[in-house]
Amino acid sequence: MSKVEKVFFVGAGPGDPELLTMKGHRVIGSADVIIYAGSLVNPKVLDHRKESAEIHNSAKLTLETVIQLIKKAVDEGKQVARVHTGDPSLYGAIQEQMDLLDGYKIPYEVIPGVSSFMAAAAALKRELTLPDVTQTVILTRLEGRTPVPEKEALKELASHQASMAIFLSVHMMEGVVEQLLESYPEDTPIAVVQRASWPDEKMVIGTLKDIAKKVQEANITKTAQILVGRFLNTEYERSKLYDPTFSHEYREATK
Ligand SMILES: C[S@@+](CC[C@H](N)C(=O)[O-])C[C@H]1O[C@@H](n2cnc3c(N)ncnc32)[C@H](O)[C@@H]1O
Repeated sequence: MSKVEKVFFVGAGPGDPELLTMKGHRVIGSADVIIYAGSLVNPKVLDHRKESAEIHNSAKLTLETVIQLIKKAVDEGKQVARVHTGDPSLYGAIQEQMDLLDGYKIPYEVIPGVSSFMAAAAALKRELTLPDVTQTVILTRLEGRTPVPEKEALKELASHQASMAIFLSVHMMEGVVEQLLESYPEDTPIAVVQRASWPDEKMVIGTLKDIAKKVQEANITKTAQILVGRFLNTEYERSKLYDPTFSHEYREATK
């Protein structure tokens, strides 16, 4: 192989270019070839690229074409940044790319990113894991054109009443609500955040009873997170970590 050490998969974050990691920023800045998921990645995260950098939008490419582009670049000794939205480990289709690179013995590294579910929680200014409310976050999606394993059907997951972030599903909002209602009460709070962290971010907050109507009125049809659970508006216990009566590794109880 060439002098290039490895290919980098970079998590570009949810939209705001300042939500890119410093490492991701550095790798994009030094890449000779950049392949980015153009349907969601904010092109501004590429603004500091080298003038000579070759750019490809993968939105219209197949897996095979992407891998051939990477392989050709690596053979020519070029540094490649493969840029994905949010964090690449979530609905990023990177496993199949990594497995094919393994076949070619091309080494790679994954640089994590800020996922859109985190950006949505930040926009709402809510903590997903409230003491005594829930300590579990479920990341999932509703079955659509791509299947979801039966055991992970939304109605099954809803039975845990954990905090839930639902990706890729806002265009099926009524189906989401229908499944959630199998376990959550009708007054359960639910929020939808579209394009979290972008300048045109939009959010609606409601309950399972009225959210589908609110989403329709706000004309939110894609690129949205659906966050559901009592963490959105409930009473909760103070955390033990900052409780003066609670000792831990870094602090003795003071009262
Ligand atoms: C193919 S998945 C990629 C998820 C990405 N890897 C992540 O960690 O956020 C695309 C889905 O992520 C969600 N999404 C991506 N960016 C978003 C944003 N800025 N605000 C809200 N949801 C977003 C939407 O549910 C969208 O349908």
